[in-house]
Amino acid sequence: MFRRLCGTERLLSIIWGTGAFGVSQGEHMITGKPLYTVNQIQDRVKELACAISDDFKGEELLVIPILKGAFMFASDLVRNIKVPLELDFIMASSYLKTDSTGDVTLHYDVRESIKGRNVLLVEDIVDSGVTLNYIRERLLQKRPASLKICGLLNKQARREVDVPLDYIGFEIPDVFVVGYGLDYDNKYRNLPYLAVFKKENKEG
Ligand code: IMP
Ligand code: MG
Repeated sequence: MFRRLCGTERLLSIIWGTGAFGVSQGEHMITGKPLYTVNQIQDRVKELACAISDDFKGEELLVIPILKGAFMFASDLVRNIKVPLELDFIMASSYLKTDSTGDVTLHYDVRESIKGRNVLLVEDIVDSGVTLNYIRERLLQKRPASLKICGLLNKQARREVDVPLDYIGFEIPDVFVVGYGLDYDNKYRNLPYLAVFKKENKEG
């Protein structure tokens, strides 16, 4: 019996099945070779969760993923954290397609009181640091007991504002990445792995 491949599964089979280096979706090109595979990501997420669980042994956490990009990372991370935790969310953006605007827009703010609590901010990728710095400063004003930051990816070469990162998944070079929650123009978040994104020049 044949199983029908659909969606991302079909995309993966196109990339790996043909051995092609890239796959074209309209005007866009995602390089076929994952920057980090599903297994590499899952292994690293477990290591991060283990370190966080050790550091907060005997304590409770308020985990705050920064939407939208951190949704997938955070859902894997919290499933592997062994200390009691609660979740809240912040939604912010600073990017327009592949360019940072430098201005942070807050779309949704925390609902829980964070005063006196151990807060863990979860971010998909730290680039200029502007978004994280803005959110961090804002949360610190509410006087949490502690505020730690966990970023899946760090593009140190692009940093403009210094932000203390407590847990980092992967250090990456200055490339634009999609998948595992990260987007280009709100697309490709559902890819289960991380891939380098390049805009295809149709005119050649
Ligand atoms: P920053 O404020 O410049 O540090 O930008 C951080 C935000 O920009 C992240 O939360 C992402 O939403 C977005 N971003 C930065 N680099 C990338 C990338 O390579 N792929 C997808 N989104 C990115
Ligand atoms: Mg984004």
